[in-house]
Amino acid sequence: MVKKKACVFISGTGTNLRALINSSRSYNFPININLVISNKKNAKGLLLAKKFSIPFKIFNSNGFFYEKKILKEIKDKKISLICLAGYMKILSKNFIKNFKGKIINIHPSLLPKYKGIDTYKRMLKNKEVNAGSTVHYVNEKLDSGRIILRKSILIKNTDNEKTLKKRVQNIEYLIFSEAIRRIYLKN
Ligand code: GRF
Repeated sequence: MVKKKACVFISGTGTNLRALINSSRSYNFPININLVISNKKNAKGLLLAKKFSIPFKIFNSNGFFYEKKILKEIKDKKISLICLAGYMKILSKNFIKNFKGKIINIHPSLLPKYKGIDTYKRMLKNKEVNAGSTVHYVNEKLDSGRIILRKSILIKNTDNEKTLKKRVQNIEYLIFSEAIRRIYLKN
């Protein structure tokens, strides 16, 4: 099987990156992670890139032309899928246009509900029954692209932000990889 080349964008801990690295080590997973990009130089997830000898680059997202530099990097490396895994910077319309239909994101809510940040806090405040996570294509509107996969869990009345996050993230580690399998299975 010829694996596609993928790049994972992070800004923080990188536990989803970790799950994707684990999946990609299996011979029949459709992608390899050939590059990790972070907009934060201290992102903990970079340690994983180092540990698994995955090339990584840090781009200061406040700098000029940083997206142009990223585009050059991913085109040079012939990347065909970008996975946003906790990348806390909104990509420009131009960037998305350049990589149309090839950028996916994982979001900690059952989209289209609770787009944006602080999803756990808002769900608990609204006394929602279900929480969950969604993997979707990225388009020019925030957290609005076509949904690939979504999985829900029940919110317990003992849940707080921390416990809910932990349980939602445990399902994220499964559905991110599963969504990638589905993308390539149908192609
Ligand atoms: C995940 O919960 C994801 O849904 C959101 O950011 C979080 C990243 O966590 N977009 P991590 O860096 O993968 O641990």
